[in-house]
Amino acid sequence: MKKPFRVGMALATALLLGACGGSDVASANDAKLKFDPATYTTVSVTLDGVSTKLRQYRIVYVANPIKMATAQAALGGNSTVTLADPYAYQTMIVSVPEDKVTDQKAALYFLVNNGGWWASPVSTTISDGAKFVSTSDTDNIGAALKAGYVVVNVGTRSRGGARAEDGSWAGKAPAPVVDAKAAIRYLRLNDASMPGSAERIIVTGTSGGGGLTSAVSASGNSADYLPYLAEVGAAGVSGSGVAATSSLKDDVFAAVAYCPINNLGNADAGYEWEYNAVRSDSNTGALGGAAYSVGAQPAASKAIAGTFAAYVNSLGLKLDNGTALTTANLRDVTQALVQQEIERQLAKGTVVPQLGGNFVTSRATLANDWLTWSGTGTSATVTGLDYAKFVRYVASNQALKTVVAFDAVGVTGNPNISGETNLFGTPAQQYTNFTEWSWVNNAVKGDGSGVDDTGLAWAQYLASSTNTLAAQLRLINPLAYLNTAADSAPYWYVRHGMVDRDTAFAMQTLLYYAIKNDPSVKDVSFKLPYLVGHSGNYDVQEAFAWIKAKLDANP
Ligand code: DHB
Repeated sequence: MKKPFRVGMALATALLLGACGGSDVASANDAKLKFDPATYTTVSVTLDGVSTKLRQYRIVYVANPIKMATAQAALGGNSTVTLADPYAYQTMIVSVPEDKVTDQKAALYFLVNNGGWWASPVSTTISDGAKFVSTSDTDNIGAALKAGYVVVNVGTRSRGGARAEDGSWAGKAPAPVVDAKAAIRYLRLNDASMPGSAERIIVTGTSGGGGLTSAVSASGNSADYLPYLAEVGAAGVSGSGVAATSSLKDDVFAAVAYCPINNLGNADAGYEWEYNAVRSDSNTGALGGAAYSVGAQPAASKAIAGTFAAYVNSLGLKLDNGTALTTANLRDVTQALVQQEIERQLAKGTVVPQLGGNFVTSRATLANDWLTWSGTGTSATVTGLDYAKFVRYVASNQALKTVVAFDAVGVTGNPNISGETNLFGTPAQQYTNFTEWSWVNNAVKGDGSGVDDTGLAWAQYLASSTNTLAAQLRLINPLAYLNTAADSAPYWYVRHGMVDRDTAFAMQTLLYYAIKNDPSVKDVSFKLPYLVGHSGNYDVQEAFAWIKAKLDANP
């Protein structure tokens, strides 16, 4: 749903304050965030064999960037990377083909990284001598350059590696969403002097980046982010805290999200609900020396799975026929999406095995024990699909995440902090558990997380005003903003591979229906691509044809 945007009033106030010589933070931010068209480097790449020159702008997109420490933990946390530029997280690189420099209509292809939900210093593959092929199905940059889009690579703070120079954990949620929004605001502020149109931003990312893409694209213009945007000095934001106001918008035109690891607060419940019945010693790793079946994992999985129904049923999502989407029909709805994809493949002539034949992926060759189909070509239909066996097949193709899949820290004592637990907490805390089961079962005394350290039950802790955990969970969750007064993107392209077990299919079905249920969404293209694993940008021609169609429909 759209809410009227009070840009006029905010602008009038800003002008009035400016005219009266009063101090106005937005003016202060905006004055520091002026785009300079003359400060660029020239990069020469090859596009479809033709030498192509681009102007490249490296821009710190906030007025108060956080100075980061030189040494940062690399993804996974086991090694260190040296940050050459202490502001590389809150920086974007804007690459403009020379012949697009004066084009005020070009779309902005806005790439977030956030891989692993990990802090991402800005980087780009558009460098001197790079080769791009616009007709490739895996070269999204080549396709974007050929289409004449301005390419924007965006760095963002996030979990793990983001330590400020003062030692604080500077990437806590909602930092990546705030940073991406701040970059969007910079583009809006400077729209008239920058190439391309900030009304045509296509946000895109994979996995952690898909999760970030969906959170940003769902929550356009929500005032919830203003206190955080004010802290970093985002364009168009004045004042501070809950009194912060905005004279600029941060909604976007389209989202292109691959395997979005979204809605982290409920991802563990979804994961165990999906996979509990098929977990075994052969598809679930041992923990602390104990094989799956004899350790603590089965009980944890069962308990966590048991919390999912109440959550799903509380969402109030509706199927196309008006029926409520609940855990009673969620498997059937997901199964229908799998079936649709198989039938699309059959229609295209993809060789799909019959029962007893083999599914072949880069990870495993496994017999088909879940799918029957008949007919040929476009009239071929799926005649049987055993969803429980399909799920078992996915877990056989690639071992599942161990229990707890996302909020593992302090529970398993995992020294690598491999779960998303360190996305949450205060800047002084390395991590905080963010789900009830892990909160209750945190076994590390003195880490500040869990009942053991706080003396607070989960609900009490979430409700207490002395922490921001509940807000953090909401601010990174697209489902908290879809179908609300926030201005969600009108166009969504979402893909999650059919053998991707990094998050539950159920989570993607919920995201899909939340998008579908939002009346301000004009089109959503959602698929579970056949035998595709955890990855993105494998269908570049299809994605870019879709992007072009949406842009063409909005000249
Ligand atoms: C990514 C993968 C995960 O399994 C996860 O939990 C978060 C992010 C990723 O590939 O970005």
